[in-house]
Amino acid sequence: MIALHRVCKDFPDGTRALDDVSLAVPRGAVFGVIGRSGAGKSTLLRLLNGLERPSAGSVQVDGIDLDTLDQRGLRALRRRVGMIFQSFGLLANRTVAANVALPLELAGVARAERDARVAALLDRVGLADKAASYPALLSGGQRQRVGIARALATRPDVLLCDEATSALDPETTRAVLTLLGDLNRELGLTIVLITHEMAVVRAVCSHIAVLDRGRVMDSGPLDAVLDGDHAATRALLGEAA
Ligand SMILES: Nc1ncnc2c1ncn2[C@@H]1O[C@H](COP(=O)(O)OP(=O)(O)OP(=O)(O)O)[C@@H](O)[C@H]1O
Ligand SMILES: [Mg+2]
Repeated sequence: MIALHRVCKDFPDGTRALDDVSLAVPRGAVFGVIGRSGAGKSTLLRLLNGLERPSAGSVQVDGIDLDTLDQRGLRALRRRVGMIFQSFGLLANRTVAANVALPLELAGVARAERDARVAALLDRVGLADKAASYPALLSGGQRQRVGIARALATRPDVLLCDEATSALDPETTRAVLTLLGDLNRELGLTIVLITHEMAVVRAVCSHIAVLDRGRVMDSGPLDAVLDGDHAATRALLGEAA
């Protein structure tokens, strides 16, 4: 579903955030990205929906080389690649339903269709009764479920999650992960998930990549990486445990 080939990312200040990264994310995977602070995880994720462009190498999503996309192409891509954040990113002055409806408004989906999809999404994430509430009145787990519903509104094939559970307590984290796992299976949704919690990796990931200072130390099916004997990977996994 996603392929990175020899990707480097240099920022104008000279920071090399990613250094010769090659990765393959299979369709339908729950793909975990782990690594220390500053390893390049968020930069990697932002390349996958075109929020950042690589300085070298190529990024492909479903066979499309993102470098070939113009602004219109990038907008279409972002409807297929949804994203959720640690800080939820909800608009405080919009109701829950209006937050979920926003990507559909931007995509020009007609009112009746929009309302029907929003209702179905809120039902799916267990928040049908909160449609008219404002984000400030919700718990953290509820806010993240609104974030998930909003990210799914345009029926994406890929969901990117940047530390989506790190603001949540362990029980709420489990509930959100269970929801993500269910959506992965029900919708065939490919999920790329950044986390620093090994428990999260073990609970939901089918595949992982271990990043260290912008380089991929190891990647592949979860068991293969966990059982591997790569010293740097072991050290990182040990820290994250
Ligand atoms: N816009 C930017 N300009 C310059 N340097 C940047 C920019 N964004 C990120 N960096 C640098 O690139 C490196 C990777 O940053 P990134 O945010 O991808 O790390 P991360 O693995 O997500 O870290 P964390 O776990 O703390 O979120 C860091 O050295 C960071 O300071
Ligand atoms: Mg980050």
